[in-house]
Amino acid sequence: MDCYLKVYGCQMNAADAHLVSRLLQDAGIREVEVSAEADAVVLLTCSVRQHAEDRARGFARTMRGEGKKVIVAGCMGQLRGEELIKEGIADFALGPDEYRRIPDILLGSRELSEVEGLETYSDLLPVDTGGVSASQAIIRGCENYCTYCVVPYARGRERSIPYQAFERQVRHLVDTGVKEIFLLGQNVLAYKHDNLRFIDILERVAGIDGVERIGFLTSHPRDLDYETVQRMAAIPELLHFFHLPLQSASDRVLGMMNRGYTVSDYAERVNWVRRAFPDAYLTTDILVGFPGETREDFEITLDAMERFQFDFAYMFAYSERSGTEAARMENQVPVSERQKRLATLIEKQSEITRLRSQRWVGRSEELFVTAPAPRGEGMLTEMKNHRSVILNHTARPGERVRAKLVGVSGWSVLAEPAVKEVV
Ligand code: SAH
Ligand code: SF4
Ligand code: F3S
Repeated sequence: MDCYLKVYGCQMNAADAHLVSRLLQDAGIREVEVSAEADAVVLLTCSVRQHAEDRARGFARTMRGEGKKVIVAGCMGQLRGEELIKEGIADFALGPDEYRRIPDILLGSRELSEVEGLETYSDLLPVDTGGVSASQAIIRGCENYCTYCVVPYARGRERSIPYQAFERQVRHLVDTGVKEIFLLGQNVLAYKHDNLRFIDILERVAGIDGVERIGFLTSHPRDLDYETVQRMAAIPELLHFFHLPLQSASDRVLGMMNRGYTVSDYAERVNWVRRAFPDAYLTTDILVGFPGETREDFEITLDAMERFQFDFAYMFAYSERSGTEAARMENQVPVSERQKRLATLIEKQSEITRLRSQRWVGRSEELFVTAPAPRGEGMLTEMKNHRSVILNHTARPGERVRAKLVGVSGWSVLAEPAVKEVV
């Protein structure tokens, strides 16, 4: 039985893929690199926007057409499973808490493994990907119920991974050569287990032998408090990288989204972060065209981009998701208007991103080498704040290299080693 794993969606899915690979490996199922060689395909899907669903549907249909067994797993499996099976696009569908059934299904077992309603997978050790950076979920699910979002329906209630189990997973990753760990969750700041909060976990993970760099994704701005930022600043291994999704800068829209903060609360948190980490790399998510968002609300967001000076922003046009509160709201913004606002926003932020990149030029930095550069020569590296840099030099992944940041090309910051070898 040869299986091909295809992953869509967020970092949670990317990390889940390593757990699914572990389940396949333990069951003696071989994973292949190209779908053409596979007897079966497993899709780890995303439902956050229509586009993500459409792509997965298209791929599943093609695979089915080629006579392969198709398992649609993950968020779309949970939400649209029955529909996909009825439409003949999938043979099986299962949600993010049911991955343990994948090997049973592939091997044609008559009895499927028992699955818990609120799975943590904390006993599973992720497979070795050969990389020096890895991500591992510290909390699963979400119960924030932002009114536009399907994630709480797809991934279920919040549950924190017990620290001991998480530490075992991290130690395993370190043993396979990982030096940088990202702690993942839809809202890591909601972590709560055995009287430990997220900041306690960060401090403990930073203390694990062999963990050189730690980061985290995503934190809900509402749940970031001053003490946490101060304690973060005292962790030498912590990356100076903050992804704080703003979504909108109109308090009226934030209220309708059920985000639980105002734009001035958000600004206060950004100030804490920037004061504690002057070189912070700050990124955000913005969603435009939410039901009832007026032209004026949108302009407020546009102006705020200027004020906040994000280093990068992930920007989306609102996509109606059935079952969510926002889908039932009146005043849906016409799709063409959503697209227009998105294009305006992207244009504005692209210029900000470009100018923000320039500010690194001339600095001398210690770079963490992660992989060969995707195009051409050199290595992909990261600054302490996780900003990626292309280093014009050969080095091994996992090494640290002192370098001078010499320029910007497109999105990339370019660097030369501080000391050139004399040939
Ligand atoms: N848990 C994370 C977000 C996960 S989804 C958080 O709270 O920040 C990633 C991003 O997708 C969200 O931040 C939001 O900007 C976007 N998104 C979510 N639902 C969407 C929808 N219905 N349409 C368009 N974008 C959406
Ligand atoms: Fe969705 Fe909000 Fe949960 Fe993020 S916090 S996953 S946007 S419901
Ligand atoms: Fe998508 Fe599920 Fe992540 S809906 S964004 S894959 S949690």
